[in-house]
Amino acid sequence: MNRQMGSAPEAVRLFFAPGRVNLFGAHLDYNGGPVMPTAIHRGTLVAIRLRRDKRVRMGSTLGGEFLDAELGRLPATASGAWFDYPLGVLMQLLPSRGELPCGVDLFFGGDLPIGAGLSSSASICVGTAIALDRAWELEVGCEGWVSAALQGERGFVGVQCGIMDPHAVGYAKPGHVLWLDCKDGSFAHLPLDPEQVSIVVMDTGVQRELAAGAFNQRVKECQAAARFLIPRSPGATCLRDVSPEVLLEHGDQMDEVLQRRARHVISEVGRTFEAREFLVQGDIPRAAALMVDSHRSLREDFEVSVPELDLLVDAVASGEESLGGRLTGAGFGGCVVALVRRGQEEALRERAQGWFVERFGRDPGFAVFLGDEGPRELSVDTYF
Ligand code: GLA
Repeated sequence: MNRQMGSAPEAVRLFFAPGRVNLFGAHLDYNGGPVMPTAIHRGTLVAIRLRRDKRVRMGSTLGGEFLDAELGRLPATASGAWFDYPLGVLMQLLPSRGELPCGVDLFFGGDLPIGAGLSSSASICVGTAIALDRAWELEVGCEGWVSAALQGERGFVGVQCGIMDPHAVGYAKPGHVLWLDCKDGSFAHLPLDPEQVSIVVMDTGVQRELAAGAFNQRVKECQAAARFLIPRSPGATCLRDVSPEVLLEHGDQMDEVLQRRARHVISEVGRTFEAREFLVQGDIPRAAALMVDSHRSLREDFEVSVPELDLLVDAVASGEESLGGRLTGAGFGGCVVALVRRGQEEALRERAQGWFVERFGRDPGFAVFLGDEGPRELSVDTYF
């Protein structure tokens, strides 16, 4: 069997890539700042089968559109369908010249809520990358999956996302958060002891329909603030490098909205470095307390919260069992992530659900997440 065909065209192989929550460093990745996400045990399942022809077919357990195309004649632009994400990744992994690999059937499923801020997009993209890497025997490895996921989402789908999500998914390590410096791409794992704290995610159920547009707008606002502040900050190359003093001195010469966006970014950089220090010292409660400050900044200065998220963070902030929490992902709806003393999750559930039902007339989702070991092949026998 040649390299393009792989070893067994008819065999179905199954891959998994987790989702993620971001605990510290909100909206910092595209500003060159530090972030601390961690992967969760729920994610995307990708079934892949090599074909004997050059077709690509993509389907999902969620139904919706089905892709059926020739590898040599793939759509030039995104169509707005869910498969834009895996298709963008596939295009990244196709050789730029020479013979095309054989076709593939890809089928997607999983247990990650979509559009909830748990990075279903990075999960499906990294999951597609590992499946294609292994099926086509490309041997690009984790670095290649992360890069294909990122370029696919930016280039083909058109979301100007930062580097955090594919890194969080790709370089996951259970019992740890990923410390990722988005300025130079360096990263390390810091312990977050699952015996001490649980990661609780509460879903507002508010769909982030306009999120991509609003997200790109935040990116543009940060770029505009950076253009103004960087020349006034010796040595700075991105908004992350601008000091609170420079903002204080020159901020009021900027549009008021840009001032607030910059204030969030610059204060969040400080909180994230502080949180790292606390985690290194093993002081999870003090690190987690900073998450509530972060949420306040996201609500007031970055304006990406909604009342449902605020209420859940208030519920987190008012209980002894909860150490801290804030919105996760881009915001505009989706989920709150909280760090809760292990074994005391029920206390938070009761209060948060009680408050939420009283105000909004429905239950928020509530789940306790475990960590995850990252993208991997699963034995098909586990599932059939
Ligand atoms: C989204 C993006 C990430 C990051 C977060 C905000 O999830 O995909 O890259 O910018 O928002 O922290």
